[in-house]
Amino acid sequence: MSIADRAKDIREQFLQELKELPHDAHQIKLFKDKFLGRKGLVADLFSSLKDVAPEERPNAGKVLNELRQFATDKFEEKTSEAHNQDSKMNIGDPSLPEDPYLIGGIHPLTHTLNEINSIFTKLGFSTVYGPEVDTDFFNFEALNIPKHHPARDMQDTFYVKEGIVLRTHTSNTQIHTMLKNDPPVKIIAPGRVFRNEDISVRSYCLFHQVEGLYVDKNVSFADLKGVLNHFAREMFGQNVKTRFRPSFFPFTEPSAEMDVSCIFCDQKGCNICKYEGWLEILGCGMVDPEVYKSVNYNSEEWSGYAFGMGIERIAMLKYGVKDIRLFYEGDVRFLGQFA
Ligand code: PHE
Repeated sequence: MSIADRAKDIREQFLQELKELPHDAHQIKLFKDKFLGRKGLVADLFSSLKDVAPEERPNAGKVLNELRQFATDKFEEKTSEAHNQDSKMNIGDPSLPEDPYLIGGIHPLTHTLNEINSIFTKLGFSTVYGPEVDTDFFNFEALNIPKHHPARDMQDTFYVKEGIVLRTHTSNTQIHTMLKNDPPVKIIAPGRVFRNEDISVRSYCLFHQVEGLYVDKNVSFADLKGVLNHFAREMFGQNVKTRFRPSFFPFTEPSAEMDVSCIFCDQKGCNICKYEGWLEILGCGMVDPEVYKSVNYNSEEWSGYAFGMGIERIAMLKYGVKDIRLFYEGDVRFLGQFA
């Protein structure tokens, strides 16, 4: 068989197989090697040129060069077509309407705060906001936290500079409110607070609190209990029980901490309430006369209560969140569950 005839056969075989070439990288490589590879059919034909009579060699060479060019061009045409189809597939049908945007949800902390706000708003509290960067006076001094009180320790407080702190609690807003307003006052003050604590599943260097303050004539501890009991039932369900344990805060006297009955085990004992049946949710007490002195209120005439709760703590209990850091990481796998 002459070189030209063999070239013709290969060309036909090439075209046939090219037509049937599957869209598969491995198959494409095998195909390319078979025809155009270093040991492929075309190269093989080239190597038999040496057996051709010298006077026919130029012609035969020309035929083989044409074959090689033809096959190379066809192969490229075909594979770049496949490639184009590939990218068309990735684009999808451009005439279709766009994917709907993912709709965001309310952050669980915002959601919890909204609930707290709504409960107290219905009881006549108005919402105010205090500064996150504040002076020593508002965060400590006026709240009867003396100069060498452990709460001021560098361990707990972030100092911006001498005398200026990132507030360690929302209680600073009690002072701002009372210095600006004559009694009666009835406010809640939500916001971010900062503490230089080791970061763990339970504590973070910032978190959120809601402060409450009610100063009026004849406000009693019974009023405080009534309001907080109502809050607990609204927040955690009508069957929740509460208890008040004596405690200490420099700015309230007497002071207490309120616990709610464990909502996870119904007081049967579980690892969340540490088998106590109770969960601590806030600190509270009657406003200390020393605080009235700082804001020029007459403590003979006025009395009141204050309370403060951590929003993360309440959200963790309500939603069974085990790690406080999840609130700050912005991971949609977590946040999406509240959307
Ligand atoms: N400020 C206190 C705290 O951060 C909470 C509190 C507020 C206690 C108001 C009593 C009254 O722990």
